[in-house]
Amino acid sequence: MNRPRTSIHGEWSSRWAFVLAATGSAVGLGNIWKFPYIAGENGGGAFVLVYLACIVIVGVPIFIAEVLIGRRGRQSPINTMVTLSQEAGKSKHWRLLGWAGVIAGFLILSYYSVIAGWGLAYVFRSGIGLFSGASAEEVQTIFNEFLATPERLLAWHTIFMVMTMVVVARGVRSGLEKAVRYLMPCLFVLLVVLVGYAMNTAAFGQGFEFLFKPDFSKLSQDSVLIAMGHAFFTLSLGMGAIMIYGSYMPERASIAKTTFIIAGADTFVALMAGLAIFPLVFANNLEPGAGPGLMFVTLPLAFGQMPGGAFFGTLFFVLIVFAAWTSAISLIEPAVAWLVETRGMRRLTACVWAGMATWLLGVGTVLSFNLWSEVKLFGKTYFDLLDYLTANIMLPLGGLFIAVFAVWIMKEAHVREELAMINKTGYRAWRLLVRYVTPVAVLIVFLNAIGVLQHG
Ligand code: PHE
Repeated sequence: MNRPRTSIHGEWSSRWAFVLAATGSAVGLGNIWKFPYIAGENGGGAFVLVYLACIVIVGVPIFIAEVLIGRRGRQSPINTMVTLSQEAGKSKHWRLLGWAGVIAGFLILSYYSVIAGWGLAYVFRSGIGLFSGASAEEVQTIFNEFLATPERLLAWHTIFMVMTMVVVARGVRSGLEKAVRYLMPCLFVLLVVLVGYAMNTAAFGQGFEFLFKPDFSKLSQDSVLIAMGHAFFTLSLGMGAIMIYGSYMPERASIAKTTFIIAGADTFVALMAGLAIFPLVFANNLEPGAGPGLMFVTLPLAFGQMPGGAFFGTLFFVLIVFAAWTSAISLIEPAVAWLVETRGMRRLTACVWAGMATWLLGVGTVLSFNLWSEVKLFGKTYFDLLDYLTANIMLPLGGLFIAVFAVWIMKEAHVREELAMINKTGYRAWRLLVRYVTPVAVLIVFLNAIGVLQHG
């Protein structure tokens, strides 16, 4: 089979560049914005525990599977699936898995960009000192008024989409690699500073307990599905982002080792974000289940009362934007790579098309926070529905099939070639997990959520 040994789109300069880029993809709004608010909505501790279990049992093994598929295929997820299913002598229909990923990427980026736009807006709002000395109520009102003006949300969404496409158009390697190298450490340091601040509020213990003391009575079937969905979302799994990043990975790098570092860093950032936010929620009598606005209310409030808060607040929102940025490029890269490979487009042209399509889809999300806020399907707004469909259904299903492909479809010798760096025991453990445990776990969570198990 003519399996390319390097990608036509380029290669990371080293395995560290891969680790940084993949961490950049994994660490994003999912960690800082989404994790705290869904943990809040789903009762805290027990939810966090299920989420951590999903990272270990489901996330890490599938992450390894996705990287190895990508590195062997060396193309966009769609063409990688075509090449590898041919190599294994199996049906070419596996390319549909690549397609599902590309579509999920579009859908996710369309709302991701809107939320990242909020972050951008808050860079400036915090920069002009809008929150200095503001009360909890005032900060909440400022946020509500912001959401009520669609043209503002649309403008920031547009700016963020342009930022994303500019980077993708230049190729992932130039600029991004360098940017991530400086920005990720800054983000870590600032998170630690914020947690330090939260530790000094009287409610730190309460926040800590909320996050780490499991109360299983608060856990619904749906919460378990949301926790698992979030494990996929936060690790960027199940839609080909990690696959395409793997396709730019140097031959000699160890897939398992890099995976542990990336998953560890991602989990660390999420837990730190939770520890920074919940003490502030309780100290100010805010509602932990406040939903998507949680971070945009608690953090400005905290910064508004901190000496030098306008400065730190601005810096923090800048970093959130950068974290979102390095994730956004990985959401659209599979589509762009496919357009270049198959349609023969130049990278720039591919970016314009993919970017416009995503932007258009994002308009629905913008409106779902104001003009369409009462338009609901299954009790969910357009944004809620998109988020639920992608994170809780498309990504876990995509991940499930990726796992199945790696251990049931690909020839074992080929898999072993890509995972040559792990020792025998590690390899066996991984294979066992991905063959049986991971798919079964994903299926059980799904069936439970649909209610099949209770009724059948
Ligand atoms: N992992 C990113 C985050 O946590 C989101 C993402 C999902 C990125 C899927 C790429 C693919 O914000």
